[in-house]
Amino acid sequence: MQPKALPGFRDFYPEDFALRAHIFDAWRTVARRYGFEEWDGPPLESLELYTQKSGEEIVGQLYTFIDKGGREVALRPEMTPTLARVVAARANGLKKPIRWFSIPQLFRYERQQRGRLREHFQLNCDLIGEPGPLGDAEIIALAIDVMRALGLSSSDVRVRLSDRRLLGGILREIGIAEALHPLAYQVLDKVGRSDYLGRRQALCDAGALEAHVSRLEQVREIRVWADLEAAFPGAVSVGQPLAETIAALTAMGLGEFVDLDLTIVRGLAYYTGTVFELFDAAKTLRAICGGGRYDNLLNAIGGTDLPALGFGMGDVVLGELLRDRRVLPPLLPAIDLFVAGVDPTDFSDVLALAHELRDANYRIEYGLGSQPLGKLLKLADARGVRFVLVLGETERQSGQVMLKDLGAKSQHMIPRSAIVSALARVVPPAARSLVPVHGPSSHG
Ligand code: HAM
Repeated sequence: MQPKALPGFRDFYPEDFALRAHIFDAWRTVARRYGFEEWDGPPLESLELYTQKSGEEIVGQLYTFIDKGGREVALRPEMTPTLARVVAARANGLKKPIRWFSIPQLFRYERQQRGRLREHFQLNCDLIGEPGPLGDAEIIALAIDVMRALGLSSSDVRVRLSDRRLLGGILREIGIAEALHPLAYQVLDKVGRSDYLGRRQALCDAGALEAHVSRLEQVREIRVWADLEAAFPGAVSVGQPLAETIAALTAMGLGEFVDLDLTIVRGLAYYTGTVFELFDAAKTLRAICGGGRYDNLLNAIGGTDLPALGFGMGDVVLGELLRDRRVLPPLLPAIDLFVAGVDPTDFSDVLALAHELRDANYRIEYGLGSQPLGKLLKLADARGVRFVLVLGETERQSGQVMLKDLGAKSQHMIPRSAIVSALARVVPPAARSLVPVHGPSSHG
C-alpha cells in the first residue's frame, strides 16, 4: 500500500501550485493596493483562544491535543482570534486604523465535501480602529477587487450583505424577546437549507409566537432598501450604517456586485455589525469569502477596546470557481532559455554562460552530465521552452553562440561577449506578474 495524504489534506503538484500561486499573487497585489501590510502568527495556539469566542461550530471542528508540557493546544481553525491577541498586545503602539492582511493555512476537522477540506489557505484582511461605515465599504471593496483581479465580474460573483445591528432592530420590531435572538439568527442562517425546519421548531419551542416567526420569515423577501422600509419601518434607523456602506460601494463603481440579503447572519459568534459573504452567482458552490464587524472581540480577548472588521477568503472554493469560469492562469514554462553544449569539452563554457544569464535574471536550465545534443534538444522541447542557446567548437572559434528558436524553427548567431544585451531584444528576462492591474468593473 502506497502512503496517501490524510483525508481533506492536499498535495500540491506543480500545476496545482501554479493555481495556488496565482491566487496568492492576486491576494497580495490587491491587499497592497489598499495599503494593507502582511503579518503572520503561529499555526498552533492555546485551545482557550477558540473555546471562549469562536462559537460552537468551529470549536467542534478543532484539531486539538495536549502538548508535552501539558498545555491544551489547537491548530488554528481561523485567524481572527490570533489577530485580536496580537493587536491587543501592542495596541497602543500601532497607528490606527490598522490595515493588516495575512495568508494563513487553517485546519478544521470538517466532513469532507465539495469546497470543504480539513486544511485551507485563507486571505484575511482586517481593519482595526475604524468604527464608521466607510471602513466596512473599504473591506468589502477589497474582497470584490480580488475577484476582479482574478478576471471575475458581477455576473460571476455576488456579495450578500447584511448587518446584525439591523437584524436586532427587526427582531425587536417584531417583538421577539432578546433572549431568543441567537435562535432567531440561526433560523435566518438556515433559510433554504435542510435543517431549516428543525431550527424554526426550536425557536417556537423556546417560546417565540408562531405569528412572530412567520413575520421573521418575511425578511428573506427583502431585496432592496424600499422593501425594508415597507416591511420594518421601525428598524430603518438602525440600518443607517449599512445604507452608508452600500452608498460608498456604489460611489466606487462596485454597487452592481452587492445584494442586500438579510438572511446572511454568519456562524461565528463574535460579529456585531455588518456581515457579508461572497458567493458564485449561480449559487452552486459554498461561500468564497465571509466577514464582518467584530467590535467587541479585541476587548474580550486582550482587554483593548477597539472596533474591528475584516474577512476571510478561502482558496478552495475560489479555485473551483476559477476552474468553472475558465479563468485559470496560463501554464508557463519554468525556464526562459535552455543552454546546450555540443560535446563534453563545451561543458565549462555552458556553465559560465548559464551563470552569467542567471545573474541577468534569466531562468536557465542546462543538461546535467554529458548527453548528445539531440537528447538535450528533446529535453528543452519537453520543458516547453522556446529558445535554446547552443555552444560548440564552431561557436567558440567565432566568439558567438547559436540561438535556436524552437517555435519559429529558425536559428541565428549572436555575439558571446554582448550576450545579455543581444538576448534582451529577443527574449526579455523573467520577472512578470500575472495579475492584471484592472479587471472588469462597472466603469468598464
Ligand atoms: P469563515 O466563514 O469561517 O470565516 O471562513 C471564511 C472562508 O474560508 C469561507 O467562506 C470559505 O471560503 C473558507 N473556508 C472555511 N472553512 C473551510 C474549509 N473547511 N475548507 C475550505 N475552505 C474553507 C472566518 O474564518 C473568519 N475568521 C473570517 C474573518 C476575518 N472575519 C473577520 N475577519
